Amino acid sequence: MLLSNSPADTGQLLAPSRRTRFPTPCPRADATPAATAQAEAAVLPGGLRAESLPRHVAVVMDGNARWARARGLPSAAGHEAGRRALEEMVRLSRAWGVGTLTAFAFSHENWSRPKVEVDFLMRLFERVIQDSVAEFLRCAVPLLFTSREGIRLRVIGDTSRLPVSLQKTAKEAEEATRDNSQLDLTLAISYSGRRDIVQACRKLAEKVQSKQLRPEDIDESLFADELETSPAGEFPYPDLLIRTSGELRLSNFLLWQSAYSELFFTDTLWPDFGEADYLEALVSFQSRDRRFGVRKS
Ligand code: IPE
Ligand code: MG
Repeated sequence: MLLSNSPADTGQLLAPSRRTRFPTPCPRADATPAATAQAEAAVLPGGLRAESLPRHVAVVMDGNARWARARGLPSAAGHEAGRRALEEMVRLSRAWGVGTLTAFAFSHENWSRPKVEVDFLMRLFERVIQDSVAEFLRCAVPLLFTSREGIRLRVIGDTSRLPVSLQKTAKEAEEATRDNSQLDLTLAISYSGRRDIVQACRKLAEKVQSKQLRPEDIDESLFADELETSPAGEFPYPDLLIRTSGELRLSNFLLWQSAYSELFFTDTLWPDFGEADYLEALVSFQSRDRRFGVRKS
């Protein structure tokens, strides 16, 4: 499990762990193409077509506090339950072959929440990253025994605002998982799509000022290269963007990157989002006619 077995699963508030070292990655396993194909075929549920799965799914995980309130619980309990929903989505993405998953964990605007909630979330993120990395580097992956093992973890957003221990944990996690390629998992923490666009503009302006670039050289591709989601241009734009809890907006998530994303909204609150919901979103995605503005006939 990605995130379980932690004492904090009981809902207790914990001081941030001092554990910042991660195990070294496992050696890569080799499987025959036939074994790989068999494993992959075995895990794809009926109704889903392997050849048209989204390469990149982005998700706005919303509704944790409402989920908790409905049960007479504090919002922290909703966030803990939300963590388990993310764990399940990561597991399913990995099993079904969705290669990139980006989860909106905490927005720039969320900093204005009560301090006790923000502090809880920061500690939660640190635990999630630590526990996840330990899991991502484990050798045994019974369902998908392929030569491309493991999950690569990244954090995007204004990390300078995060507690120093979380910054350090995130950096070490990125370093420890950088060679993994089974699933690219990005957590957007202190993220703002507008800020991402502004920081990309600033970088381009600096390059123009230092004469590395001329203004007329700037095109969409160069611009996208400066976004936080574009390390070395290897990050596909989201094909499918899911938002839970009945809210019908993007809320400043991946604004540039979602220009042609298919949107899927569900009333399900994030902690309840499970296999059936994810499958529904993917089946809906596969029913869409993606024309990208082009007339096909
Ligand atoms: C999403 O759930 C988690 C974060 C934004 C950190 P919320 O905390 O926004 O829950 P609701 O939307 O108020 O129910
Ligand atoms: Mg919300």
